[in-house]
Amino acid sequence: MTDTGAGYTRPVPLPTGSPKIAPSILNADFARLGEVIAEIEDEVDLVHVDVMDGHFVPNLSFGIPIVESLRAVTDLYFDCHLMVTNPVALFEPLAAAGANLVTIHAEVHPDPTDAARIARELGLDFGLVINPPTPFEAVEPFVELADLVLVMSVHPGFGGQSFISDVLTKVESAKNWVDSHGLVTDIEIDGGITAATARLAADAGATVFVAGTAILGAADPVESAREIRKAASGA
Ligand code: DX5
Ligand code: ZN
Repeated sequence: MTDTGAGYTRPVPLPTGSPKIAPSILNADFARLGEVIAEIEDEVDLVHVDVMDGHFVPNLSFGIPIVESLRAVTDLYFDCHLMVTNPVALFEPLAAAGANLVTIHAEVHPDPTDAARIARELGLDFGLVINPPTPFEAVEPFVELADLVLVMSVHPGFGGQSFISDVLTKVESAKNWVDSHGLVTDIEIDGGITAATARLAADAGATVFVAGTAILGAADPVESAREIRKAASGA
């Protein structure tokens, strides 16, 4: 357990440093999920868990039982991206199942103050997400409540979409805001990430790189994760 000095503890701390590579399991082979994670475990920093309710986004994915099953097979940090209409209702069962961080959409909670407090009380790290049309200003007043700001680079709901490069200006705004306030808040990018787009996002200031198709849909997920890390490192 890590005492953050802020009155709550983190069962697994958010890894430090950049880049952090976060495979999304959305398009994984669920019959082999444990094996899939074991294969890439040493190459990645987080597991990105896309929870969808078929309401906030037009797709259903998975929820608490998958988190619980995965927690039994890995100590990796679980970054749970909640694409649901009522994310706060999931905080407690997710925390009990072994989640580490919950990110909620600004489109659902324009004022996330209460949600952030509830997450902290449960020992969860907390993040804020903005969809492609949502400006950075929607979360700017609340960045200090968050460990991470997630800038969506596709419209959420499905893996395998193309990267929307217009969002890079929001990554820059978020990074400038964080740096100018002396914070270490991570900037995460999610959707259409490949080695090439990871490089663009890294140049704009992203520190956490979610990749679904490009890692778990690749013929060689380990090599693909390494390539994305290399590109995001500016190498
Ligand atoms: C989209 C999800 C993403 C998605 C990424 O709604 O939030 O995390 O799984 O998949 P790729 O990397 O294939 O765009
Ligand atoms: Zn996601």
